Amino acid sequence: MCGIVGYIGNQKASPILINGLLRLEYRGYDSAGIAVMESGEISVMKDKGRVKNLYNIKGIDDLKGTVGIAHTRWATHGVPSKENSHPHKDNSGEFAVVHNGIIENYSDLKEFLTDKGYKFYSQTDTEVIPNLVHYYYNKDEKDDEQRLLRAVSRVCKDLKGSYAIELIYKNKPDMMIVVRKDSPLVIGKGYKENYISSDIPAILSFTKEFYLIDDNEIAVLTRDNVEFYNSDLEKIEKKIENIDWNATAAEKDGFDDYMLKEIYEQPNAVRETIGSRLPEEGVCIFDDLKFTKEYLSSINKIYIVACGTAMHAGLVGKNIFEKLCRINTEVDVASEFRYRDPIIDDKTLCIYISQSGETADTIAALKLAKSKGAKTLAISNVIGSSITREADYSIYTHAGPEIAVASTKAYTSQVVLMAVLAIYFAETLEQDNVAEIKELKRDILSLPGKVENALKCNKRVAEFARKVFQEKDMFFLGRGVDQTVALEGSLKLKEISYIHSEAYAAGELKHGPIALIEKGITVVGILTDPKLVEKSISNIQEVITRGAKTFIVTNQELLNNNFEMVIRIPEVNPLLSPIVSVIPLQLFAYHISKEKGLDVDKPRNLAKSVTVE
Ligand code: AGP
Repeated sequence: MCGIVGYIGNQKASPILINGLLRLEYRGYDSAGIAVMESGEISVMKDKGRVKNLYNIKGIDDLKGTVGIAHTRWATHGVPSKENSHPHKDNSGEFAVVHNGIIENYSDLKEFLTDKGYKFYSQTDTEVIPNLVHYYYNKDEKDDEQRLLRAVSRVCKDLKGSYAIELIYKNKPDMMIVVRKDSPLVIGKGYKENYISSDIPAILSFTKEFYLIDDNEIAVLTRDNVEFYNSDLEKIEKKIENIDWNATAAEKDGFDDYMLKEIYEQPNAVRETIGSRLPEEGVCIFDDLKFTKEYLSSINKIYIVACGTAMHAGLVGKNIFEKLCRINTEVDVASEFRYRDPIIDDKTLCIYISQSGETADTIAALKLAKSKGAKTLAISNVIGSSITREADYSIYTHAGPEIAVASTKAYTSQVVLMAVLAIYFAETLEQDNVAEIKELKRDILSLPGKVENALKCNKRVAEFARKVFQEKDMFFLGRGVDQTVALEGSLKLKEISYIHSEAYAAGELKHGPIALIEKGITVVGILTDPKLVEKSISNIQEVITRGAKTFIVTNQELLNNNFEMVIRIPEVNPLLSPIVSVIPLQLFAYHISKEKGLDVDKPRNLAKSVTVE
């Protein structure tokens, strides 16, 4: 849950490192630091707070070193403080390390090292790593080129948990070593220089050529070279991946915040997700999937597993798979699925949704299903992300980089991709719902325009947000698919405005929660499914009677209009309606957060990629 950057080359390292960290702040931002090789010593500069605080550290501008490592932290062990910030050195000051992940057995390792006389100055799990490297390095009697590599590899054998580690050693100033297990790490290749980062966009302005490191692989970097080893220290070859992304796509494009930019990118993101998979004539195409009718007919259950917003997208996907393919589909939260001994076998298809592709619980849930013989399919936005490398099959949303912690375009593109995937399944299965599928295809192709249209509500949503931003509690209500989008609207509001909210199936209200409705409370109603709108309206009237202010998102003409605000959105097939109805809800959360003067893109206590349990 942290971001790491590294540089080895001929340019001043510190500005490159800080620039990279600024782009990785979505991974955590409670403290930051860099370590640079400086005239035969390792100079560490770090502090509590955001990456930009590094600029205030005296002497940071004077660092001339051209080799360095850097870190932006999201605390797991030990409070955010200067002492707990990375990089961490060993007791001798010869080794410096940054680490992303969690060392689960750090207490045992600390005890082992303490017995050997090592001292600890932070509350972190990370501090055991440089000290263990020092220990094994000095224990090794063979003083050859491989000595440091052997020490790092030996340390990895002791570590339990997840890690992406960068290490520099004072006496080898022209090299650095990196290793990963269950935490993201990429190497960017330049000319007589090499870069390291937790993700590709952070260093995309420096290079387009990347090596993707797999679990338990170690890389040794010099200015001119990168060598890769497996855990037995056998040399391995890795091919360079050319990443054809535009670095400016990751900038704000004139918007105040990444979140607003990403909300407005949705028409295009949806278009890109559909891509060439849905030709106007003929069957749906998935180049990367070669599912046969025989295989799909053998599936008796689909599991969709994910976290947070991605899980909410899964709830919409469930409806679509069940309706089009008639396959029993269950949705589960990854952190629950992985520990509840789910009933899965080789007749189960498990679909994992993850924007980042690095969510620890989702990856663990995928590994569990694989171990039980199920086939696994990953839906991700990040090419080469960990989840896509673990899964049997991977398909991408192609929504472009999502930087804001609150996920927006990832959600809409995930739902679109599941709809297209369900059509592909239904067509491969030769289901007899040809007319229904034909109509749904037309609806999917019309989505970019409908999302564009829905964005026109921005001003009116902002107006309503100004009226209610000081409230403490809100409710989100809907039935059927509208209930799934209520969950997403409520999550958006919580995470960026810090207002408590509950999402409920509208019909459940009178089984308890209606007791909380009192004069002045805001209730958001989502009313899009023509079959259920009347029923939901009755529930909304019940809260109005009890004094609630109502904010209604609908694609229907509502006659009896005693609502505070009605946002009319374009009509679309009910299976797809969340792709359109979520837009006003995203904007609602956004404007409330802005009214409250909060940091929309980096809400408190959250990080973009949850790479620890
Ligand atoms: C969404 O706004 C959240 N920040 C969060 O729920 C997110 O969707 C979740 O952590 C899953 O992330 P992933 O898609 O990268 O796996």
